[in-house]
Amino acid sequence: APSDPDLVARARTAKEKLGDKVFVLGHHYQRDEVIEFADVTGDSFKLARDAAARPDAEYIVFCGVHFMAESADILTTEAQQVVLPDLAAGCSMADMATAEQVAECWEVLTDAGVAEATVPVSYMNSSADIKAFTGKHGGTICTSSNAERALEWAFQQGQKVLFLPDQHLGRNTAVRDMGMSLEDCVVYNPHKPNGGLTPEQLRAATMILWRGHCSVHGRFSLDSVNDVRERIPGVNVLVHPECKHEVVAAADYVGSTEYIIKALEAAPAGSKWAIGTELNLVRRLANRFADQGKEIVFLDKTVCFCSTMNRIDLPHLVWALESLVAGKVVNRIQVDQETEHFAKLALERMLALP
Ligand code: 13P
Ligand code: SF4
Repeated sequence: APSDPDLVARARTAKEKLGDKVFVLGHHYQRDEVIEFADVTGDSFKLARDAAARPDAEYIVFCGVHFMAESADILTTEAQQVVLPDLAAGCSMADMATAEQVAECWEVLTDAGVAEATVPVSYMNSSADIKAFTGKHGGTICTSSNAERALEWAFQQGQKVLFLPDQHLGRNTAVRDMGMSLEDCVVYNPHKPNGGLTPEQLRAATMILWRGHCSVHGRFSLDSVNDVRERIPGVNVLVHPECKHEVVAAADYVGSTEYIIKALEAAPAGSKWAIGTELNLVRRLANRFADQGKEIVFLDKTVCFCSTMNRIDLPHLVWALESLVAGKVVNRIQVDQETEHFAKLALERMLALP
C-alpha cells in the first residue's frame, strides 16, 4: 500500500529540520516506507561500520532491531544518542541466548575441561550481554558476511569454537565454507542439563553450536527448494545462511542480504531467481529488477516477514524524528559502561578481521 502522504511530508520536514544532526540507518528487511528515509541501507555488518563512521551525527536513528541499535550505541561516541523507533523491535533469535544460560554453558565447558581450548564466536544477532561475554573470553562477533573469516581467526586462537546463538549459521559456515563434517558439530541445548551433552561429546566436538535459530528463515525447507526448481526450470536458488543446513546444501548461492543484492545486480537479463530471505527485501528486489527482465520470486509459497523488523513503520519513524526536532530523545538505546567495554572488544575484533 502507498504510504500516507501526510506522514511522508512530516518525515521529510523533520529530517530537513534536523539536517546533519541525525543519521538514519535502515536494514534491508525494513519496509519500503521506512527505507525511503534511510541515509544508508545495509546488512548488519555494513550498518555497524557505517554507524561507527558518523561521529558528527548527534542522533543515530536505527531502523532495524534491538541488537543492531545496541551495537550502534557500543560503536559510537559517548555523546551520540541511538534511537530505536519502536522498542518492541527485538529479535527472537537473539532472545534464545540469555547471559545466565551462556554463563552456565561456560561452566559446563569448564567442568568438561574444554573451556580453555574454546573460543566464543557470537553472531551479531545477540544481546550486548552475550557480546560482552564473548569479548571477555577472547572471542569475536561475526555477521553473515564474515562468519568464515571469523571462524578462521577463532581457530588460530583455539581448538574449538562455541558458536552463539544461531546453530544454522555456525553449521553452514563450518560445513559448507570450511570443509568440516556434520559430525564435527554438536548442539548445546540450554534447556537441558549440561546442554544435553556428555563431557566426551564436548571433548570430541570442534564446533559447539548453541541451539538457536531464526524462525523467519526456518520456514524455508528442502521442499521449498525442490518445488521452485520444478515450477521454474533453470531457476537459481539464493538463500541466507540462517536457513537450515539442508536448504543451504540444496541452494546454488548463499550469502548475507548485501550479498543477495549484489548477486542480483550482477545477474544477466533473462535470469530467474528464487530468494530465501525476508519478504520486504525480496519484494523490493523483484520490483527493482522487473524491467531488466530478471524474474525474482520468493522461495516459499507462504509469506514470511520478520514481524519485529516490521514493527518499525512510518508512524514510529515520524514520531521519533519529530520528537528529536522538539528536543526530546525517545526510545534511546544505551548499553551500560561495563557491558559496553567488553562487547566493544569483541566487535572491534570483528571489524579488524582481514
Ligand atoms: P544480514 O543483513 O547481516 O545478512 O542479516 C540478516 C538478519 O537476519 C538480520 O537480522
Ligand atoms: Fe532476528 Fe530472524 Fe528477524 Fe533477523 S530475520 S531480526 S534473525 S528474527
